[in-house]
Amino acid sequence: MESTRRQLINLLANSKENYISGQALSEYLNISRNAVWKHMNELKKDGYIIEGIPRKGYRIISFPDKISENTLKWGLRTKWMGNTIVHKTTTSSTQTIAHQLAQENAKHGTIVIADEQKQGKGRMNREWYSAKDKGIWMSLILRPSISPHLAPQLTLLTATVLADVIYKVTGEKPQIKWPNDILIKGKKVAGILTEMQAEQDQIQYVVIGVGLNILHDKADLPKDLQHKMSSIKLTTKTDIDITKFIQEILSTFESTYSLYLNDGFSEIKLKWESYGFRIGEPVFIKTLKREWRAVFHGIAADGALLVKNSDGMTEKLYSAEIDWFDERG
Ligand code: BTN
Repeated sequence: MESTRRQLINLLANSKENYISGQALSEYLNISRNAVWKHMNELKKDGYIIEGIPRKGYRIISFPDKISENTLKWGLRTKWMGNTIVHKTTTSSTQTIAHQLAQENAKHGTIVIADEQKQGKGRMNREWYSAKDKGIWMSLILRPSISPHLAPQLTLLTATVLADVIYKVTGEKPQIKWPNDILIKGKKVAGILTEMQAEQDQIQYVVIGVGLNILHDKADLPKDLQHKMSSIKLTTKTDIDITKFIQEILSTFESTYSLYLNDGFSEIKLKWESYGFRIGEPVFIKTLKREWRAVFHGIAADGALLVKNSDGMTEKLYSAEIDWFDERG
C-alpha cells in the first residue's frame, strides 16, 4: 500500500505541471482506476493539493508544508544536485549518514537532510544546535576532481552560495566571517562544516554540512548563544518557505560549482570578498599556537586568510579563528 502511494507521488511529482491520465496511472501502478481515485483522496487528506480534470488527468498543485524527498524534488531545477535526496525526520547528524552513503558509492550531488539532529556537529568539535523544523540541517556529497589541498575553496564557495540565497530571498545582505560563518546584523545565522576523504593527490569525496537557522524565535535558541546566534526570521523579519529555500540553495550551488570548475576560484574569491566581514579592519586572530591582533587583509588566491601584522608584514593562515573587538573588549 505504502509503496504504491510513494510510486504515485513520484509519478505525479516527476510529471511536474503536466497531467497524467487516470488510465496511465492505473497501468503504471498496476491497480484499478477506482484504486487510483481512492489513493488521490488519501493524498488530499494529507495536505497534497491535486487537480483532477476529466479526460485530462491529474497533476499536483502543491505538496504538504513539510520537507520530504518529494516536496524537495518537485520544482527543483537542477541537473545533478539533489538527484538523490535522503530525508530523515530525526537523526544524530546528517554528516554521519552522508559519510556512510559516500563510502557506499553515493553519487556526486546526493544530499542528506533532516528535520532535526540530536548530535549536530559544528567546526572545532563544537556541538551544532539543530531544533526540529526550525532550520535546514543538510549535508551535500561531492566528488570533485580537484586536488585535496584546494578543498577549502569549496567551503568558501558554499558560503557565497548561502549568502547569495539569503540576499536574494530576504533582501538583506549577509556577511561572511572567515572562513564560513554567515552573519546577519552581526549575529551568526548559518555555519558550514566541510569534511573530506582523500588520498595523497585525489579526493574520494567531500561532505559539506550546511546548518541554517531559519524559523527560530528568540526562545528557540539556547540562552547562552542568544547574544551571538540568531535566525533568518528574527534578523530579517521575512517569512521563509523552507522547501523553496533549499531548492534555491541547491540550484545556486550547482551553477556556482560549475562556474568554479570552468573558471577557477577567482570569481568566487571576488564574490566572497564582496560579503567579507571586517575586511581592512583590526581583528583578533587565534590559532592553535598563538593569539594576536592584526588587520584582516582579505583572502588569498587559494582561499587562505591574509592578515597584516603590526610589523607591516602580511601573513597567510590556513587554520585560524577570527574575533572582533566588540566581542573581546
Ligand atoms: C559551524 O559553524 O560550526 C558548522 C556547523 C555545521 C552544521 C551542519 S547541520 C548539517 C550538518 N550536520 C552536522 O552534524 N553538522 C552540519
